[in-house]
Amino acid sequence: MTTNSLEGLAGERLVSETAQEVAGTVATWIEAESRRAIAGHGAFSIALSGGSTPRLLNAILAGPEWRERMEWASWNVYFADERACPPDDPASNYHLATTTLLSLVPIDPAHVHRMSGERPDLDAAAIEYSALLAGSLPSGPGGAPRLDVILLGLGENGHTASLFPGTPALGVTDRWATRGLADYEPFDRITLTYPAINAAAAVAFMVTGAGKDEALLATARGEVPASRVRPTDGTLTWFLDAVAAGA
Ligand code: 6PG
Repeated sequence: MTTNSLEGLAGERLVSETAQEVAGTVATWIEAESRRAIAGHGAFSIALSGGSTPRLLNAILAGPEWRERMEWASWNVYFADERACPPDDPASNYHLATTTLLSLVPIDPAHVHRMSGERPDLDAAAIEYSALLAGSLPSGPGGAPRLDVILLGLGENGHTASLFPGTPALGVTDRWATRGLADYEPFDRITLTYPAINAAAAVAFMVTGAGKDEALLATARGEVPASRVRPTDGTLTWFLDAVAAGA
């Protein structure tokens, strides 16, 4: 694959040599976005994803340099998706975020809004999360709650957040969070919907390592769930390492 094959990808592509460099670039980008948001409306909201890709970024942000640089007191943390498990389960996205970042920096725990993946009724949990987003964020395009930043990953089958190919969540347009269905365990999920994702001020994909090339090409061709991430009135940035970009 050449980077030219990715020309159909909407948004801006920033290719770094290594996954570690991608994480550093994303940390710098988040700092800029957070400063812009805090200057504009006094707070910074960010939705985090799960998977393995955020680990390097979280390690950087939790390190001594970024602990001092970031205005953590103004952060409000949300989630792009969550797996059906308790918050202390190693599979939980909240658990990942907490153990690798949130408990290591001075973020007010009251500013961390997790999805209740442990609830037996995930539809109810998603409806409550939808209401939480609407009640705590400024209103954006189409009346959707507007997050300042959403960090997304890309699955090998082109899913993002927990918007998996061929699942009902892809068609949900009347709420901001809904139930998702994955093709690997834990299968049951809660996920932001397209209207919520596309209302954000800035959406970023972090994609690193081998195994993502087909998904990137399919995204560029408009064939998979990640293709429909198109912020209405916001930016879209792809942070790739050279392997993922085929460079
Ligand atoms: C999750 C996600 C998911 C993830 C991709 C990429 O809960 O699994 O939020 O959308 O971002 O599957 O995962 P990797 O970073 O592990 O490749």
